[in-house]
Order: sequence, then C-alpha cells, then structure tokens
Amino acid sequence: MRGWLVVNQFITSEKFRELFGMLEAAAAPCGCILERMSNSLLWGKLAEWDYVIPEKERPDFVLFWDKDLRLAAELERQALRLYNPAAAIEACDDKSLTWLICRHAGIPQAESLISPKKFHNDGLIDPELVSRAEALFGFPCVVKEAFGSFGQQVYLVKDAEELKNTILSIGERPYLIQRFIASSRGRDLRLQVVGDKVIAAMLRENADDFRANLTNGGHATDYTDKLTREQTELALRAVKVLGLDFAGVDLLFGENGESILCEVNSNAHFKNLFDCTGVNAAEHILRHITQRKE
Ligand SMILES: Nc1ncnc2c1ncn2[C@@H]1O[C@H](COP(=O)(O)OP(=O)(O)O)[C@@H](O)[C@H]1O
Ligand SMILES: [Mg+2]
Repeated sequence: MRGWLVVNQFITSEKFRELFGMLEAAAAPCGCILERMSNSLLWGKLAEWDYVIPEKERPDFVLFWDKDLRLAAELERQALRLYNPAAAIEACDDKSLTWLICRHAGIPQAESLISPKKFHNDGLIDPELVSRAEALFGFPCVVKEAFGSFGQQVYLVKDAEELKNTILSIGERPYLIQRFIASSRGRDLRLQVVGDKVIAAMLRENADDFRANLTNGGHATDYTDKLTREQTELALRAVKVLGLDFAGVDLLFGENGESILCEVNSNAHFKNLFDCTGVNAAEHILRHITQRKE
C-alpha cells in the first residue's frame, strides 16, 4: 500500500516534524510506504487547468495532516480517499461549525453565541451581542476565536468592558462567546479516538490558568483506565457526527460531574499523549487506514 502524508509547507517546527516522523515510522510495520508531500508541491502540480493525477502516481490513500481545505476538497474531487475527510477537517477547524453540527446532534456543549460575519475590522461593535452575552452567561465568560489552537485564541473576560475590547481586538475574524464552565477551570480531558475506539486519554490540569492546554503550561496524567462510559461514548459520538476517522476530543467537567464537549481536533498532537500514556496514536492511525476494507 502507498499513501501520501500531506503536510503544510510553512509549518516547520520541531513539534510537527516529530509528529510526521512518528506517522512515517508507523507506516512500514503496516506494510505501507508513506510519501511526504507539501501543500505547495501539490498546488504546483494542480496548476495545470486539466491536471489529473496520473494512475501510476495515485496513492491508495492520503493522510491529510494539513488544514488547507481547498486542497483537501480538490484531492477528493480527484477521487482520493482522505484521512480525515475534507468535510470533517473543515468541521473541526472552525469551532463555531463544530459547535453547530454537534448541537444538532444533541451533544452537550457550553452554550454559545456565534459572531455575525464581519467584512472589515472597522472598530464597530454590536451592542446587542454584548448585552445578550451578559444576560445569558454573566461574567466571567469565554471568548473563543473560531480558528485557533493551543489555547492561544481563547480568552476569559471579566466584565462588559473587557468583552467589548476583546471583540474589537479580534476584528473581522469569527468567534464565539461562551458560558464559562467554572467547574472545569484549568482542567479538561483529552481523549484520543481512532476508528470506533478511544485508545487513550489524559487529564490535563493547570493551576495557574483557566486553559488546560499542555502547550500553555498544563500538566498531564494518564486517565485511560479512569474513563467513564459516558465520557467514552460522548467522544465517540462527536467523532462520528463530525465524520472523522480519528481525532483528539476535549471534554470539560460540568458542575454535576457530567461531560461537556469542548472541541474536537482533527489533527491532534499525539506526542504529548504518547509521553503521558505510552500509547502511540500513529500506530493506531496507520493500522486503521491500512486495515479498512473500502
Ligand atoms: N467554555 C469553557 N469553559 C471553561 N474552560 C474552557 C471553555 N472553553 C475552553 N476552555 C479551556 O480552554 C482550553 C482551550 O480551549 P479549546 O476550545 O480547546 O481551544 P484550543 O483549540 O486553543 O485548544 C480548553 O482546553 C479548556 O481548558
Ligand atoms: Mg483544545
């Protein structure tokens, strides 16, 4: 079997290189050759207006570890099977889209207001949105950019003034205003799903920040054997509804111990999970792909 590992040309950090190395190392034991391709290289090939990938170059699958959504969709139009599928990557990339899709599936999530589309960063603000957020959630509440990762675009705002300033600083980028789940302050669960299984989980905690992300200073402990059925089932449901083959699912702790979906990562960084639990998600992902019968 032959696959392409599609990566982003402009992401060169050690963190990503390590991840790609793990995926490539996991390919050979599955009898598979994984060939690395950058999005730039593929767009170069696709520049020819009637370009069709020649039969001898076509891989059996594409492990798409990028968020170049136009490229993902184009590869699917060329009848390639993507892991994860383009629509699933898109649904996770945009936190407001994840929220909407999961809401329709009845998956418990923090109540949210979605920002209306803005064309320009014109310094204008919808006062109704601020008062609605205040009435619905009170303070503090969470503002979350629709596109972001490592906790870097998630803000806890303490009053209406800070809410307005945060919205203004986000400008024309889309965002959500969300109820702050105080019972989960600085604490969440990361469950790694591959196929129809949760292969490992970790509890992430940060005493100094409301965000539990490890990149942001959080600390992880193995939670795989402590997972409840409710937590496992919620993660599997979210992955299914979003059309993913594998994902890192973040869950918050509700005030009565119930689980609340925080977000779903289609391209989760599984190196931390490996360090914490010893479970290598790359091996599970490659096995899932190469053993699928379709
Ligand atoms: N509504 C919320 N209430 C409480 N904590 C939250 C909420 N939303 C996010 N968090 C915290 O912030 C962290 C980052 O948010 P998340 O939506 O996962 O964005 P990112 O993609 O940056 O990881 C979460 O892991 C969680 O600890
Ligand atoms: Mg997260």
